[in-house]
Parts: sequence; C-alpha cells; structure tokens
Amino acid sequence: MENIVDRQTVGISADILDRSLIIEIIRVTERSAIAAARLRGRLNDIAADKTAIEAMHTELDLVNINGTIVIGEGDNAAVAKLFVGEKIGTGNGPRCDIALDPLEGTTICAKDLQNAMSVIALAKPGSLLNAPDVYMEKIAIGPGYDEGIISLEKSPTDNLAALANAKGVHISDLNVCILDRQRHGKLIGEVNKAGAPIRLISDGDLAGVINTTNPYDTGVDIYMGSGGAREGVLAACALCCMGGQMQGRLMLDTREKLKNAAAMGIDNPRRIYNLHDMAHGDVMFAATGVTQGNLLSGVRFEQGQIITNSLVMRSTSRTIREVTTRHPA
Ligand code: FBP
Repeated sequence: MENIVDRQTVGISADILDRSLIIEIIRVTERSAIAAARLRGRLNDIAADKTAIEAMHTELDLVNINGTIVIGEGDNAAVAKLFVGEKIGTGNGPRCDIALDPLEGTTICAKDLQNAMSVIALAKPGSLLNAPDVYMEKIAIGPGYDEGIISLEKSPTDNLAALANAKGVHISDLNVCILDRQRHGKLIGEVNKAGAPIRLISDGDLAGVINTTNPYDTGVDIYMGSGGAREGVLAACALCCMGGQMQGRLMLDTREKLKNAAAMGIDNPRRIYNLHDMAHGDVMFAATGVTQGNLLSGVRFEQGQIITNSLVMRSTSRTIREVTTRHPA
C-alpha cells in the first residue's frame, strides 16, 4: 500500500507518482508491442489485438501499483482482460488510474501500415476522464500558441484562420490531419474550401494528435474530426506531457449512449472537455511502436534480438524520453 506519510516526511508530494514507474510502464508497452508485431501484416486484426491484450495484461499485473483501469478494452461483460474497472498490478504500490490501448490501430497492424502502437498512461486516481466507449469530436494543436485559439464551438474555417494568424502563415500553409471517414465528408469539404491541405489517415488518430506537437517533422499542424473517446483521453495524456491544446466532446447520439454516459456520471452530454478536464496532475505516458511510423519505429526482429522503440513522458517533470531497447530473442 502507498505510504503517504513516508513520502511527506521525505518531502515528496503525495500528489505525484513514484518516478521509477516510468521504467515499469515502458516494459508494459514493449511487451504488448512485441506480441502484436509478431502478427503484423497477417491481415488478422482480431488476433493481433488479442495477443497484445494478453501480453499487456500479464506485464501490467507485475507492476508494483494498485491500479484501476478507467480507459480500457470495454466493460467487463464484453471483455475478460483489461476491462474498465479492473484492478491491476501487484497491489503493493501507489493507487493510480490507468488508460491503455494495447494495440492502437488494429487494422494498421494487420495491414502493416503506419503508426500502430501500444500505449499506456498512469495518473493519480480521479485525474483522467472516465469516458464511455463512444466517438469523441476532437480538435488539437501543439504547444507554443496562446491558450484558447482553437475551439469546438468555432467552425473549422474559423479555427484554421485563428491558427494561421497565430502562426503567422496563410491557411494554405497549414496541414490538417483528419481520419478518412464518411462521417467527415462535411468537415473535409469545408477544410478543403478554406484552402488547407489535408492529410487523410486511414486509422490511428492518437498519432494524428501527437503529431501536432512537432509540425516541423511531422507536417501536421492541427488535428480535426471524431474518433474513439478512449484514444481522445490517451491523446490528452500525451499532450499533458508534451504541451499543446486539445478539446473533446463526446458524441452521445442515441438514448442508450446517453443512458450509459449518465450512469458514468456524465450529466452534460454536450460538454466540451478541455485538455485539463481529460487529464491532469502527474501523468505518465508510454508508447511503443508496433509498425513503422513517423512517431516511433516499429518492432524489429533481428538475429538474437528484438529491438523496440518507445516514447515515455511525464507531465510534472516534462521529460520526454525516447527509448530504444534491445531484448534478447
Ligand atoms: P482501433 O485500434 O481500436 O482499431 O482504433 C483505430 C482507430 O483508427 C483510432 O485511432 C480512432 O480513434 C478510431 O479507430 C476511429 O474509429 P472508427 O474506425 O470507427 O472511425
């Protein structure tokens, strides 16, 4: 059990997690990424997802935390492992809430396309939005801009104009990342009419959001459109560590979704969540590449070794580590 008294005696705030957990969480995503990568390009997204879930569950259960999954694979009735509400870890460690996705981009992995990754975030209890498994409208930009220049209440054109103005460029100089989905027809039409080039991605909007933090290398200035709420919370965790702005609004468009959300304590279905509402406090985030991507390299299987590439970050220290690990095969 977490010893808050000891932490206070030695002057460590009880509001922060033990920093050695940073290393522990890389082990978790490395293991699930390696498992998923063995099924890369096999055109079987279900099998890849299953193997990643098994691997992440096994490794996460070895970590010295008293964890509760708040963003997971679904509810207990639907999935047996890594479900929302599952208690995980050895129980000998700090209490923390966990958001995870053992394989973000199951189809990407199955087709060996860009940016499939294994992801986890840890935070103090109550610091992460407990979002239901629905779509979320999202808008995100990287760091370095005045707070509040983008908003889900503004039209896409107005958001682009505000960003172009803040960046000192024309709208036509901005690059917009959007998931290639039919539901985005109107959004894509408007962005196109406004004159901004669009990067349409087939899947993986977590990478889409994270890419906005480094437009120079990624060529993505802004992310717009709807994707999974789970990926939205994970993206917010990443931006908490890297800087940037993001808003999300749950898409509760049926009675059942409204009812489920209400049962989870969401009383305003139209609420716009800012970054801080989705993730705050001491947030740790780790991601390991499964397939090759512009953010992370994919797992490589070499003679006698397996090489993984991960990103591990922490909001309170603002450290961003890129970790390449050589595992004996
Ligand atoms: P999965 O790994 O669960 O397949 O998610 C991939 C993804 O592209 C996410 O990045 C994105 O948020 C979501 O699917 C979008 O959902 P949909 O494919 O239903 O539009």
